[in-house]
Amino acid sequence: MNEPFILSEYIDHHPGLAIDSRDGDAVRRAYDLIEADGSAESVTEPSPAPPAPTQQVREDLENTIYFLARAAEIYDEGTGNHIRRVNEYSYFLANTLGMDQAFCDEIQYSAQLHDLGKISVDPVVLGKAGPLSETERQEMDNHTIYGHRILSQSPQLAMAAEIALHHHEKWDGTGYPNALQGEAIPLSARITQIADIYDALRTARPYKPAFNHELARSIILSGDARIDSAGHFDPRLVEAFADTHADFDRIWRELSDG
Ligand SMILES: [Fe+2]
Ligand SMILES: [Fe+2]
Repeated sequence: MNEPFILSEYIDHHPGLAIDSRDGDAVRRAYDLIEADGSAESVTEPSPAPPAPTQQVREDLENTIYFLARAAEIYDEGTGNHIRRVNEYSYFLANTLGMDQAFCDEIQYSAQLHDLGKISVDPVVLGKAGPLSETERQEMDNHTIYGHRILSQSPQLAMAAEIALHHHEKWDGTGYPNALQGEAIPLSARITQIADIYDALRTARPYKPAFNHELARSIILSGDARIDSAGHFDPRLVEAFADTHADFDRIWRELSDG
């Protein structure tokens, strides 16, 4: 019995393609077949990653993140568009600083999760109207750690996790939970903090009325009885805010709660 000639690299995809090596015509036909098959493959092979599903996956992820942030906000008795506005101010500020598009896109969906950890805070403490005891204050501050613990489970939420952990740090190192100072605080958290505080100033809270843009602007730039601007914020961000503050007001109006 003649030893068959097997085109070994091809055989996996074409079982049964086994010919007699001494049969020149058969060998030629086999190579013609392979050549034709190769060119046919290059014509008919679908492109590896059609853009539509990728876009869809991204949209699904962003919707899921939004609903998660929304759930946490409602749990904290928040309503309205606070988290959407914080996303947009943060995106705008990152863009103004000249951060690359990937960073801007990531902060635009990550910033809204800054207070996610409040879903793990003792509800009695979270809902308490009066002043908090030392222990209660600690539990409240732990929302940073709780949020980080939840979000650090996913690599896609790495920026959201660092924002959750560090959005209450202060430039002068007097913030929490790690008393980080200056540029040791992740930029994403420094940006989200200024966005969050501007929005809080514009919004009525149980302990304060809603401030107009002028007052909110002057507090970010120069501070007030509660906020020491120089100790609180990254001076580079304060400068960027000073140059572009009208856009913060624009975003506030575009996504107003009314
Ligand atoms: Fe917070
Ligand atoms: Fe907030």
